[in-house]
Amino acid sequence: MLKRIPDDARPEPNRMRRLHLDGLDILLANVDGRLYAMDNRCPHEDASLYNGALKGHCVECPLHGSRFDLRTGEPQEPPADTAVRTYAVIERDDGIYLEL
Ligand code: FES
Repeated sequence: MLKRIPDDARPEPNRMRRLHLDGLDILLANVDGRLYAMDNRCPHEDASLYNGALKGHCVECPLHGSRFDLRTGEPQEPPADTAVRTYAVIERDDGIYLEL
């Protein structure tokens, strides 16, 4: 299902935003102009990844430092050992959509 996000939700380049959409808590990141979306919950101990740091194509968890690749959701090192759910972002002339 495609879900349109508000026009003003687009993060600035190399910044992140947090969205609540259809009951989901979603992190939206802009990496050099391209948008990525993933759940805003670290699978290790539920920290809000939005409170972490965007480092290239990865988001670093603020609690224990695991980094998650925005393209796949996969952790790049421990302690997290489970991927974060990612969502396809589709940019069209009429707006930005997430595939939920
Ligand atoms: S809560 Fe994210 S690495 Fe521990």
